[in-house]
Amino acid sequence: MSQPSFERVAVIGAGTMGNGIAQVFAVRGSQVTLVDTSEAALERGMAAIQSSLARLVKKERMTQSDVDQTMSRLHRCHSISDIGSPQLVVEAVVERPEVKSAVFGALDAVTPPDTILATNTSSISITEIAANTKRPDQVIGMHFMNPVPLMSLVEIIRGHETSDATVARIVAATEDLGKVPVEANDFPGFVSNRVLMPMINEAVFCLMEGVATKEGIDTVMKLGMNHPMGPLTLADLIGLDVCLDIMEVLHRGLGDDKYRPCPLLRRMVAAGCLGRKSGKGFYDYSA
Ligand code: CAA
Repeated sequence: MSQPSFERVAVIGAGTMGNGIAQVFAVRGSQVTLVDTSEAALERGMAAIQSSLARLVKKERMTQSDVDQTMSRLHRCHSISDIGSPQLVVEAVVERPEVKSAVFGALDAVTPPDTILATNTSSISITEIAANTKRPDQVIGMHFMNPVPLMSLVEIIRGHETSDATVARIVAATEDLGKVPVEANDFPGFVSNRVLMPMINEAVFCLMEGVATKEGIDTVMKLGMNHPMGPLTLADLIGLDVCLDIMEVLHRGLGDDKYRPCPLLRRMVAAGCLGRKSGKGFYDYSA
C-alpha cells in the first residue's frame, strides 16, 4: 500500500461520524487515534467499525486480512492531552458551538504547530471555530456524509482565514481516501445542509399537518424523486437531535423564518425519540 496523505490522524468523538471517519482513514493506511472521554462511547465506536468492516467483507469490497490490518491501525484514547503528535485532527463531537470551541482551544494547545485541525461540523461556522486557535489558517471544514464508509462526498469548507495550502492538502487527502471533495464557503449549513435540512423539516411539517402518512411521504420522495431513502427515514439515520441542531443554526445564522424547526421535530427530540440511535424516531428500530 502507498503512503497515505497523513500518517498519523486523530479523530475526536467516537459517535456515528467519528467512528466512520476513523475507519476510512485506517482503511487507507493511517495510524488513527480515536478519542472520546467516555469509555462506553469508545467501545460502541470500535464495535461499529468492526461491524461496518464485516459488512464490507461480506460485500467482497475488503478481505479479512485488510480488516485485521485496519483494526491494528486503530488506537483509543480518553483525553485530548494524550493524543501525541498527529499531522491531522478531525473533530466530530456534538454539534454545539461551545463544545467545539472548547475542543479547538484544547487541540491548539497540545498539537504540534503544523498540525491541521479539521472539523466535521455540518453547519457551524468554521471561522468561529478557528477563532479559538492561534492557527486559523490551518483550520478547515471536512464534512463527511453518513454513513461515512459508503458515501463518496466530502464537503471542504474554507473559513475566513483558511490558507490555500491547507485547502490543497485536505482536497488531496480526501481524494486519497477515494472520496470526492467539493469546496464550499463558510455560510450556515454550507451547501449540503442548507438544501437537505429544510427538505427534511418540510417533510416533518407534512407529517404534523396530516398531509400524508410517514410511509406516504417517504414513498413520494423515493419513487417520485429517486431519492435512495425517504426524508423521514433519512432523518432517523442522521439523528433527529442533529437535524434539530442544524435547523437552529440555519434559523439563527440566516435569520429567515423559513428555517424555523418544525414543532413536531422539537417534540420528538424532547421525548428522546432520536431515530435509529435511540431505537425509535419516525419508525421503530427496537427489533
Ligand atoms: N458501514 C456503515 N453502514 C453501512 C454499511 C457499512 N459498511 N453498509 C451498510 N450500511 C448501513 C445503512 O445505513 C443501512 O442500515 P441497516 O441495514 O442496518 O438497516 C444499511 O446499512 C443498508 O445497507 P445496504 O447494504 O442495503 O446498503 P445500500 O447499498 O442500500 O446503501 C445507503 C445504503 C448508501 C445508506 C443508501 O441508502 C443511501 O445513499 N441513503 C442516503 C444516505 C444519505 O443521504 N446520506 C447523507 C446524510 S446527510 C449527512 O450525512 C450530512 C449531515 O451533516 C447530516
